[in-house]
Amino acid sequence: MEAIRIVDKKLLLLDQRLLPGQVNFVECGDWQAVANAILEMVVRGAPAIGAAAAYGMAIAATGLQQQELSLFYAGLTNAAEGLQATRPTAVNLAWAVQRMLNVARAQTGATAAAIADILWAEANIIAKEDIVVNKKIGAFGASLIPQQARILTHCNAGALATVGYGTALGVIRSAVAQGKQVSVIADETRPYLQGARLTAWEMVQENIPVTVIADNMAGFLMKQGKVDLVIVGADRIVANGDVANKIGTYALAVLAKAHQIPFYVAAPYSTFDFTKSNGDQIPIEERCETELTYFAGTQIAPTGACCYNPAFDVTPAALISAIITEFGVIEQPTTQKLAAFFTEANHD
Ligand code: MRU
Repeated sequence: MEAIRIVDKKLLLLDQRLLPGQVNFVECGDWQAVANAILEMVVRGAPAIGAAAAYGMAIAATGLQQQELSLFYAGLTNAAEGLQATRPTAVNLAWAVQRMLNVARAQTGATAAAIADILWAEANIIAKEDIVVNKKIGAFGASLIPQQARILTHCNAGALATVGYGTALGVIRSAVAQGKQVSVIADETRPYLQGARLTAWEMVQENIPVTVIADNMAGFLMKQGKVDLVIVGADRIVANGDVANKIGTYALAVLAKAHQIPFYVAAPYSTFDFTKSNGDQIPIEERCETELTYFAGTQIAPTGACCYNPAFDVTPAALISAIITEFGVIEQPTTQKLAAFFTEANHD
């Protein structure tokens, strides 16, 4: 279940648009192909697009390695801008690209070819770190899961959305590994169906019981007492603890509050953006109308109807029971708590 595969310095991305029907990898020969794969959702999920973009930077560097240094750096900066412009909400993308640029710029005295090698090594480190971090999130998160739990999740924050293991689904994997009896309720997640197609696929492969529901059913299940907790991933968490995640997350958090059900967010430090004080400042990606007006290739809304297709929404911190990170759990997040937590974790 790898979203990202490297074979002989070749980047292969699992085409998530075709899942669960087909398992097919797309090879990206230049950084523009990586940018296009991110834009077109071949690869998706905040940590996965960050890692893919890091490899995009390494590929760009290899393509520029015969150039003199000033042209090499100009080309690399151009690739960074192109990769970063693909999807505006998930901050892991900018985080990974900037990390790669910083490493490149720190190599004073090295040749372009040597810097390209260093960037491949850095992209490999980013990818490996992601799995380590997700396992730590999983371990911290599992302590919040009761011995028996019916867990509702939205979108896909699993192995496919990361380099491996997952954030929200990583917590579920860790709870299962500890012997807890967990079943998953997967919101189908209109319009892109990441829940029905990807989360359900991951769970089925590991024999973790999963029930797919349409997004508008969650409230009824909660009222029936069929949901013990909600856990989701994040695309960006700002200084006050507001969380951008897949459209529909906010509605779930409101429902969870109304039914007194814990609502957890699982995300790595690379998803935090302390340059923004609250969620109103998060750029929200809008995607094309046809994602709504067509279903599986068939037009379902009349030509002439207007459409609005924001891909993410923002859940206010006040609705969040806890944020689970690789450094531990922040309960009922606030600006002060987050600042103190990360200062203590040596990540200020
Ligand atoms: O549009 P997507 O599929 O990239 O959106 C993905 C999500 O919203 C995930 O929940 C989020 O990126 C966290 S993935 C660990």
